[in-house]
Amino acid sequence: MDIEASAKPQDIWQHRHVLDIDDFSRGEIELVMQTANAMSEVLSRPIKKVPALRGKCVFTIFWEVSTRTRGSFELAAKNLSADVVNFTAQASSVSKGESLIDTLNTVEALGADIIVMRHPISGAPYHALPYVKANLVNAGDGWHAHPTQALLDLHTIHRHRASLEGLKVSIIGDIKHSRVARSNVWCLTKMGAHVVLCAPATLLPSGLEGSCDHFPRVEVTTDITEALKDADVVMVLRLQKERMASGILPSLREFIGGYQLNAARLAFAAKDALVMHPGPVNEEIEITRAVAHGPQSVIREQVASGVAVRMALLYLLAGGKEL
Ligand code: CP
Repeated sequence: MDIEASAKPQDIWQHRHVLDIDDFSRGEIELVMQTANAMSEVLSRPIKKVPALRGKCVFTIFWEVSTRTRGSFELAAKNLSADVVNFTAQASSVSKGESLIDTLNTVEALGADIIVMRHPISGAPYHALPYVKANLVNAGDGWHAHPTQALLDLHTIHRHRASLEGLKVSIIGDIKHSRVARSNVWCLTKMGAHVVLCAPATLLPSGLEGSCDHFPRVEVTTDITEALKDADVVMVLRLQKERMASGILPSLREFIGGYQLNAARLAFAAKDALVMHPGPVNEEIEITRAVAHGPQSVIREQVASGVAVRMALLYLLAGGKEL
């Protein structure tokens, strides 16, 4: 890591909100990693609790289903001694027609200091930003961004690799509908990785290969063997059937035949390549059960990293005092 030992977190950390990784500096990403390491130490103690967010109130509001993100944010906030309130849209007044902004203003009136939100519409947290005073954390918006997933993925890779400089990271599967892929491209390229995106042509968004100035340079291919060749990290994405317009894939069987990560294909990657998946996994569709649970898989570690990384982000947003 490049952070100078004398640098104070408040000199590096510039964020009031976490909406995506595109506006994170490399120093901020390194600070999140360093802070997450400190949180991992807290999580290794018999009593996994520190008073850092005592007196603060964290609301999580999910307009879309979640297991990992919602559960780990709740645990993260509780481990930091915050008061935590969890809403799902189905079990709140959203189901009676309350708008996004009214809902956020209501939870602020109830005392929210930090709001963690997931929404099926890309850009929803950006739309909400002018209307909220609380710190806002994007827990996934439509196809757009999932910044905390990218940071926990980076934390997981760092458990096995000291640096990402020059590593080949291949992201394979449903790139088009993946907020995880977009946030990971920002995060991994800022840390020096060579990122390869691989999917059937209909699951690749247009305008990726350096043709737009505002998106980092990545390699794009429909050839899975080329993508896997000597890869240091293989990140497999879920086939997002719920977000697909009909007709985008000829058939599930063809996708499995051409793009499923199985043991034979994994053999093209580096011998010690890490196998990752943000979850939830469709076993035997984008990845075989044997590979998902095999010796190279760090999928469970990704889930565990989620708690430490989300603790780090809540801690930094709250001012980073008294751990
Ligand atoms: N990776 C991820 O966002 O999982 P959940 O949908 O379970 O939160």
